[in-house]
Amino acid sequence: MKSKKIPERLESKRLLLRKLNHTDAPGLYANIRDKEISRWLSGVPYPYPKDLALKFVLTAIAKFENKKRFTFGITIKGIKKEAVGVISLEKVDYKNKNAMLGYWIGKKYWGKGYMTEAVKEVLSFGFETIGLHRIYANVYSENPASERILRKFGFIFEGVEREKFFKEGEWQDYLTYGLLKKEYSKAM
Ligand SMILES: CC(C)(COP(=O)(O)OP(=O)(O)OC[C@H]1O[C@@H](n2cnc3c(N)ncnc32)[C@H](O)[C@@H]1OP(=O)(O)O)[C@@H](O)C(=O)NCCC(=O)NCCS
Repeated sequence: MKSKKIPERLESKRLLLRKLNHTDAPGLYANIRDKEISRWLSGVPYPYPKDLALKFVLTAIAKFENKKRFTFGITIKGIKKEAVGVISLEKVDYKNKNAMLGYWIGKKYWGKGYMTEAVKEVLSFGFETIGLHRIYANVYSENPASERILRKFGFIFEGVEREKFFKEGEWQDYLTYGLLKKEYSKAM
């Protein structure tokens, strides 16, 4: 699986998901520096330092190239060429064929079904293109939009790590959702 040629673009009806490039940094910065986004992401600080976006993009490119993490910029066809969010398969474990799904999109694009569309493409990429057996996601509790997306694709709630992170001045529970290839195949 590691030697396989990896596509750098995934396409759906309204979206083009593509490997990031350094020109994406300003657009990502403009969208991620929002408390309502960082609130739900463990590695994203608030306030968000400007140079962090470029660092993130450069790391994402390097990790994509060595197949350790597949981060796709989310671009909306006919609206924006720059990425307005990202979706990734990270912590790719080739031996055990599993990876973690993560995503965010700028607030002005919420509620239009974009992330559902992006997740569908990335699940297909994970299970069919790179041959994963299991994809999982970690979600802070009280993030119903994210849980809803996962459940729509058949992800199963597997458990909770209680008070794992201290964020927003409070201890936050962290939920794990998992999806096996056989469950995905049945649902698609
Ligand atoms: C979570 C997030 C990615 C959703 O993106 P989106 O493009 O708005 O998602 P979609 O429109 O595809 O789907 C959202 C679903 O959640 C539902 N939803 C939204 N808010 C909800 C709420 N408060 N309660 C219950 N369901 C809710 C929507 O109705 C939709 O379900 P439906 O298709 O059955 O109607 C986006 O809000 C985001 O980037 N949030 C901040 C970062 C984040 O939470 N990332 C995930 C970390 S695990």
